[in-house]
Amino acid sequence: MALLEVTGLTKYYNKDAPALKDVTFSVKKGEFVAVIGPSGSGKTTLIRCINRLIEATEGKIKYSKAGDMLALRGRELRQARTGLGMIFQHYNLVSRLSVLENVLHGRLGYKGPLAGIFGIYTEEEKAKAVEVLTLLGLEDFMYRRCDQLSGGQKQRVGIARALVQDPRMILCDEPISSLDPGSAKVIMDYLRKVQREMGITIFINLHQVDVARKYAGRILGFNKGKLVFDGPAEELKNKQIKEIYGTEADDLILN
Ligand SMILES: Nc1ncnc2c1ncn2[C@@H]1O[C@H](COP(=O)(O)OP(=O)(O)OP(=O)(O)O)[C@@H](O)[C@H]1O
Ligand SMILES: [Mg+2]
Repeated sequence: MALLEVTGLTKYYNKDAPALKDVTFSVKKGEFVAVIGPSGSGKTTLIRCINRLIEATEGKIKYSKAGDMLALRGRELRQARTGLGMIFQHYNLVSRLSVLENVLHGRLGYKGPLAGIFGIYTEEEKAKAVEVLTLLGLEDFMYRRCDQLSGGQKQRVGIARALVQDPRMILCDEPISSLDPGSAKVIMDYLRKVQREMGITIFINLHQVDVARKYAGRILGFNKGKLVFDGPAEELKNKQIKEIYGTEADDLILN
């Protein structure tokens, strides 16, 4: 059964051409799916429509037990979002807070507003935060302020924060675009570990075709808001890369 089902998704920001046009695909539990496409092809718009950071113009999005994402309001929407982790290019951490406090923020969606404001977390939540920080090799950094970390360490905190939410799927919007190749590899390897060992579905926007091919089982290729490729990574050949990237493709052609 599909974990995520997107049907006929269309997004107009204004009267210009749509940012997404009649997009249909589904994702199964445990898949590692990479979304590629040139700048402006709609990758970020897609992720933001899925977790309702922006509203789709038309279409259906079904996610796990939450059902129709587009129909959810208030508490139900908060709950659905909590079951859907999110990792960002610029980490979105609170820089003056510690690593541990940032990770615990992943639990806020499960709390009432007061417990959230006062930063009241259960012993179980704290233990879980320490567990995921250890899994990500950050056990020695728990009490350090986030503005004292490297980019790669910040992104590992971002993954830890997503993991304490107990998500079935993590949406990642270019999580390695601000990192050097070495740190990028560390992050991709952790995401693979999360997928393989915890069975969490990874849905990731990437600019690097080679990284997408190396890590993803399946690739979705976008061009001008249209889904022009949906298939296993092995089927992404030069012909498909040209279809996705158009005239920008020359630098990306595989040897
Ligand atoms: N808030 C907005 N208002 C109006 N248009 C927008 C807005 N956000 C994005 N767009 C437009 O929607 C299209 C898709 O943008 P989107 O950011 O989803 O692309 P992307 O594939 O993520 O690009 P990049 O690789 O550069 O991150 C672009 O034409 C963009 O200009
Ligand atoms: Mg983007």
